[in-house]
Amino acid sequence: MSKFWSRTVKKTSPYVPGEQPAQPDVIKLNTNENPYSPSQQALTAMKESVDHDLRKYPSPTVDSLKTLIANREGVDGNQVFVGNGSDEVLAFSFQAFFDPNEAIKFPEITYSFYPVYAKLYDIPYQQVPLLEDFSIDVEGMKQAIGGVIFPNPNAPTGLAMNLSQVEEILKGNPNCVVIIDEAYVEFGADSAVALVEKYPNLLVTKTLSKSHALAGIRVGYAIGQSHLIEGLERIKNSFNSYTINRVSLVGAEVALKDEAYYEQTLNQVIKTRKWVSEALADIGFDVLNSKANFILVEPKGISAKQLYEALKEAGIFIRFFNRPELDRFVRISIGTDEEMEQLIEQVKKLLN
Ligand SMILES: Cc1ncc(COP(=O)(O)O)c(C=O)c1O
Repeated sequence: MSKFWSRTVKKTSPYVPGEQPAQPDVIKLNTNENPYSPSQQALTAMKESVDHDLRKYPSPTVDSLKTLIANREGVDGNQVFVGNGSDEVLAFSFQAFFDPNEAIKFPEITYSFYPVYAKLYDIPYQQVPLLEDFSIDVEGMKQAIGGVIFPNPNAPTGLAMNLSQVEEILKGNPNCVVIIDEAYVEFGADSAVALVEKYPNLLVTKTLSKSHALAGIRVGYAIGQSHLIEGLERIKNSFNSYTINRVSLVGAEVALKDEAYYEQTLNQVIKTRKWVSEALADIGFDVLNSKANFILVEPKGISAKQLYEALKEAGIFIRFFNRPELDRFVRISIGTDEEMEQLIEQVKKLLN
């Protein structure tokens, strides 16, 4: 701790992202990236965008990207907010809609960035334990004072709620904002964007990081009624006018238009998830029914920590959470079929 730090810095406990190993030849199944290339059309457009125009600032309002997202999501342009990754959209949302002294609710096992934002902005929080089967406790998420946030599908469980359960949580919290973090929704859950018209307190966040294999360009967005979007714009424009750079803007637009490639890679990830889940279950491991691009697995015959360490030794990175409520599990991102075949082979070798 430095005596020169502000009170704000002193009270932070920053998020620790999964390792990004420097060796190029590892199998990286630890940060839920898409194993496939971004759209070739998007890559070409981004390369072409690296030109003389980079001397100019990008659009502060990103209107053309907003229009494209609005058309794709079936909402109006003024119901879309775009940010530098959905992490930024979430950070702005905490500041825009949650207040100090009014406790928000989120699940006890969930995306570990939520408590980080809450601490940064002095927002008290109540962590609602998951049910026995690891699903989110719908009843427990009702009657929050300051707001609600949860991912659907949840991370790192991968379990999804149906829209009537989501709607129950919305009905149980009519006086505060409910944020649904749909970072993984495209891999098999139903999006709550369909409920935005009906609920003035609903904000849905999404990202191109996972579904469109574009974690590297940092583009995420939120959908909500225009009064919520205006709240987010006010925070953004009090912080940085140009959060989306020119190259990312071009890449996001072209990737979103390349529907055929998106569908193809999405379906491939879902197909791989199915056989890998079955293969690990055949080995005797418990595998949660994931609707995301990762699976939460409880190994048998080897501890989660041992499995994580042994696989790392073999050049396969998965995620181990050193927290009592999760240390029986490992989270494995869905890679290509070849990568997952190597994973299964290594696991079998370790068990022998
Ligand atoms: C549940 C959840 N929400 C949001 C994010 C942030 O994604 P990004 O900032 O890349 O859009 C992640 C990333 O892993 C996540 O797991």
